[in-house]
Amino acid sequence: QRHLLGIEPLHPSEIIALLDRADHYAEATRAGHKHGDALAGLTQINMFFENSTRTQASFEIAGKRLGADVMNMAMQASSLKKGETLIDTALTLNAMRPDLLVVRHPQSGAVNLLAEKVNCAVLNAGDGKHEHPTQALLDALTIRRAKGRLHRLTVAICGDIAHSRVARSNLILLGKMENRVRLVGPPTLMPAQIDQLGVEVTDNMAEGLKGADVVMMLRLQKERMDGGFIPSEREYYHRFGLDAEKLSHAKPDAIVMHPGPMNRGVEIDGTLADDINRSVIQEQVEMGVAVRMAAMDLLAANLRASAGQVEPGGP
Ligand code: CP
Repeated sequence: QRHLLGIEPLHPSEIIALLDRADHYAEATRAGHKHGDALAGLTQINMFFENSTRTQASFEIAGKRLGADVMNMAMQASSLKKGETLIDTALTLNAMRPDLLVVRHPQSGAVNLLAEKVNCAVLNAGDGKHEHPTQALLDALTIRRAKGRLHRLTVAICGDIAHSRVARSNLILLGKMENRVRLVGPPTLMPAQIDQLGVEVTDNMAEGLKGADVVMMLRLQKERMDGGFIPSEREYYHRFGLDAEKLSHAKPDAIVMHPGPMNRGVEIDGTLADDINRSVIQEQVEMGVAVRMAAMDLLAANLRASAGQVEPGGP
């Protein structure tokens, strides 16, 4: 494929190929090896129209580790502030002939729209409530490394599902890999037409976590609640915040995940989040760099293949 816009279009074999390459990069980084120059001579522009710590930093580090020339557009200081549209901004940058555009935008579908207007490869770094593909891929890699497989696992995704692109991309990926997914949270924070998703849904943490191999917690995404129902944090933590008691309903070796940013004492107990025997939250961050290296490496291979230089890769 030319772009990485979502998990939806990916075949399971493409997901596995990407995870295998990311695993290689993760191990090479841990061993202190140099990574070669898969992106040497390529220009990567990061355009973040919404705040980010993990995704932006890891895309920048990933590009630099593979030899790309990386530019972070300061969107707050760009001519968007003078009324230039997203598309005109994209066309302007496209005219400078970048090879990779990494885009985060608050509107669902904005990254797909932008991808139609440019000549380079586009990677979706999160668009509204739609998709966050590299997050789902780094979550998948973290699960596979912890559990030794990525199929026939029971995964409980808990919290604000309705506003979460992370939940959506994970739901699609885990489904493609034949896992059992449970959505746990208040009915007011479940997406519309939930019954069409083909997953188990409950508002009871004990029921939702029963026998789970993986417990994935989500933040209350107030920035996307549009003035709708926002639960009291105290009440929310009491019913849905993950602590040792609620986790005791999952399997004894269940892992705890969170994509970040995390609100301690709201959706998760701070001590549990830091418990290295249960929490893989820091490993998720580490795998984020490896997955983004693999994604850009494979897209660059496809760019070169379409230009007639080498064999195609994925994703
Ligand atoms: N998980 C995630 O997307 O984090 P950031 O918003 O910090 O990039």
